[in-house]
Amino acid sequence: MVIKVKVLVVFGTRPEAIKMCPLVIELKKHEEIKTVVCLTGQHREMLNQVMSTFHITPDYNLDIMKKQQTLSMITSAVLQGMEEVILKEMPDIVLVHGDTTTSFAAGLAAFYNRIPVGHVEAGLRTYKMDSPFPEEFNRQAVDVFSELYFAPTENAKAHLLAEGKNAEKIFVTGNTVIDALKTTVDNTYDNENLAWANGSKLVIVTAHRRENIGLPMEEMFSAIRKIVDDNKDVKVIYPIHKNPAVREIASKYMSDCDRIRMIEPLDVLDFHNFINRCYMILTDSGGIQEEAPALGKPVLVMRDTTERPEGVEAGTLKLVGTSEKRIYDEANKLLREPEAYMKMSHANNPYGDGHACEKIVNVLINHFMTRGEN
Ligand code: UD1
Ligand code: UDP
Repeated sequence: MVIKVKVLVVFGTRPEAIKMCPLVIELKKHEEIKTVVCLTGQHREMLNQVMSTFHITPDYNLDIMKKQQTLSMITSAVLQGMEEVILKEMPDIVLVHGDTTTSFAAGLAAFYNRIPVGHVEAGLRTYKMDSPFPEEFNRQAVDVFSELYFAPTENAKAHLLAEGKNAEKIFVTGNTVIDALKTTVDNTYDNENLAWANGSKLVIVTAHRRENIGLPMEEMFSAIRKIVDDNKDVKVIYPIHKNPAVREIASKYMSDCDRIRMIEPLDVLDFHNFINRCYMILTDSGGIQEEAPALGKPVLVMRDTTERPEGVEAGTLKLVGTSEKRIYDEANKLLREPEAYMKMSHANNPYGDGHACEKIVNVLINHFMTRGEN
């Protein structure tokens, strides 16, 4: 079959990769589509882990990561690097994901070169520019210059409509992370760390948000340490983000306790199975707020806002902010009050049927394949 559309898929961080790799796999099933994959390399080890898990070899890698990169450094390196790739490939569309600086800068490079942008996971909002920072800006900005919107939920679509976007360009697809979860979770999975936690209440911790680095993170980690000290049946596994600023604070509170294991970031297959087996999760992550409801695992979200209210409405997520006392109290409640725990631990998946990637590809086919036939 003659190739009718060239799609350039761009991503650069772990969470984007986890949600874009299933889409790349789906795109590559269609021989009428030429799929080109470009990594910005905003992340390095954490991105490469995901690429190996999904067995995807990128066509380009800008490899921009620096040890203490600022937002301006990421933006300028991606903008410049992407322009070269875009001008060389001249794709029909550039697909970006979510709310990272990679997505913003890669989308902007496409826009400046008059190439249409498709936004996967469009329409999430807190409407508070500093929370999460800079992600709220990134996702709103990407939605300003996008031409096709792939919204995970009706709620996300409603935001786009309220902002005046064309209803014919918005498609509710579900979230591609559910497509990923379907391939990773296995109830027979085992691992040495899980064996270590056997017989205890296993709490999984993750934290990395830029706006939490500093005092909020000190409070978060101090609360976690107290929870472990005061509940002898609790063990914590914390696959720690590669950011040295996060590692420095975490080691202050968590390195000298034999019921806390700080480990390197897990491959996504392992991480999904760890959360499938845990008692509860404490996190400031975005993506985990979408995965845990599907697995029925209570999550205390250590943030003041969330752009993912669906899990809160479903009852699996609770926003607890970043104060030490509140985190400690809420976690103790879930550890000590079976009724409170039961109330939050019912599986509920507001993020679609696991066929989001097929839906996105069908939209692209309908959008591009009919050109020239009129
Ligand atoms: C980025 C995204 C954030 C997303 C998060 C997912 C922006 C502004 N932030 O934040 O939205 O939630 O990724 O994890 O786009 N590092 C490594 N190796 C890695 C990855 C990171 O060493 O594989 C270290 C580097 O020192 C780097 C630092 O972590 O400078 C911070 O990485 P960066 O991408 O700037 O910020 P994140 O907090 O990861
Ligand atoms: N994750 C992972 N290994 C880990 C911790 C998290 O693969 O050790 C996955 C997790 O399943 C989720 C994603 O990483 O899909 C979330 O990434 P992160 O918290 O870094 O970013 P955010 O979602 O907050 O943008």
